[in-house]
Amino acid sequence: MSTLDIDFVRAQFPAFSEPSLQGQAFFENAGGSYTCKPVLDRLFRYYTERKVQPYAPYEASRLAGAEMDEARRRLAAILGVDTDELSFGPSTTQNTYVMAQAFRQWMQPGEAIIVTNQDHEANSGPWRRLAEDGIEVREWQIDPETGSLDPQDLANLLDDKVRLVCFPHCSNVVGEINPVAEITAIAHAAGAFVCVDGVSYAPHGLPNVDELGADIYLFSAYKTYGPHQGCMVVRRKLGQTLPNQAHFFNGDVLYKRFTPAGPDHAQIAASAGMADYIAALSVHHGGPDGSDTQRGAFVHDLMRKHEVSLLQPLLDAVSNRNAVRLIGTADAEKRAPTVALALNRNAEEVAGELATHGIMAGGGDFYAGRPLQAMGVDPAQGVLRVSFTHYTSQQEIDQLLNALDAVL
Ligand SMILES: Cc1ncc(COP(=O)(O)O)c(C=O)c1O
Repeated sequence: MSTLDIDFVRAQFPAFSEPSLQGQAFFENAGGSYTCKPVLDRLFRYYTERKVQPYAPYEASRLAGAEMDEARRRLAAILGVDTDELSFGPSTTQNTYVMAQAFRQWMQPGEAIIVTNQDHEANSGPWRRLAEDGIEVREWQIDPETGSLDPQDLANLLDDKVRLVCFPHCSNVVGEINPVAEITAIAHAAGAFVCVDGVSYAPHGLPNVDELGADIYLFSAYKTYGPHQGCMVVRRKLGQTLPNQAHFFNGDVLYKRFTPAGPDHAQIAASAGMADYIAALSVHHGGPDGSDTQRGAFVHDLMRKHEVSLLQPLLDAVSNRNAVRLIGTADAEKRAPTVALALNRNAEEVAGELATHGIMAGGGDFYAGRPLQAMGVDPAQGVLRVSFTHYTSQQEIDQLLNALDAVL
């Protein structure tokens, strides 16, 4: 496995050569990543050369449709699913609401779903609202000290009433990577489908959803170097089981079935730039010169290795401080580089102080109030969150460590 060429990587992101951002180290990546050049180029091309209703028989329109199809085909290949099992929506939260509505219609009063208190509200609130229609909502709870979800606790909650288990691939504040394939196998054995929020995991390497076994897998392209879109995998068996949420005449097409509104043509077309970027990384680092699926797997591991090597010293530094509580595990191999810190003062104020040291970070609850409360974090203080990705350099980590020394 080769080592990530950080200069090559950063050359693919215009933000790193933007004069107004010089000297600013970006550590709010879990909120939204920088956008890679292939995505920006495709977006510009769509708006300048196409910008027509796609799929009509004139050339500009034919190309517009072809670019949208290319995005779904190539991203689906990276995710290890069929092209029509991937669809786009305005955001992950809106995609979740659509799926929750489908389950609301499909389920019977007295049946049950399981949600966690580790999730971002997007994969929690929409499902909990099914209780209004007589659906039993059971909560799979985290360990209040570590923030971990124990699969054994899930096994104890399952019975033949449960139709769905919702959980995150990794939480946007706890950061620990959940064993999705193991959890999914437990849920499937009990006859339940699973819905996995992959928003906090996908930026660190798009996963092979087929290998994970999830029936629904959600992530947000704007946190994964792309445009502001929600990406959603719905596997065929579940997609054909749930009632159609789109216009009646679109219900036979799986990728249209859970997209009630007209899609954002330009942004979907631009999403193919994420696949271009992954291909460019693979080729540059001597990865497989084959399919998008193979390149995706290679780039996933390449990103992960770089991130883990930068993350461990950061975790060591923050976990050695008395006035800081690191949320989640201190083992870099087990988590994403999304590091939330509970301090003994207001986290947003501390983020403001970091800004004077050229660190872009945030403080608050990050819509993850449930896990923070379960872990005893004062919601009024919130957590300071520093999150990075594979394009982050050692120099930026050093800048962060110096800035933390100065303000904590
Ligand atoms: C883990 C997680 N899930 C879901 C979401 C919601 O994503 P979207 O903004 O696309 O609705 C976020 C956004 O911050 C998130 O961090």
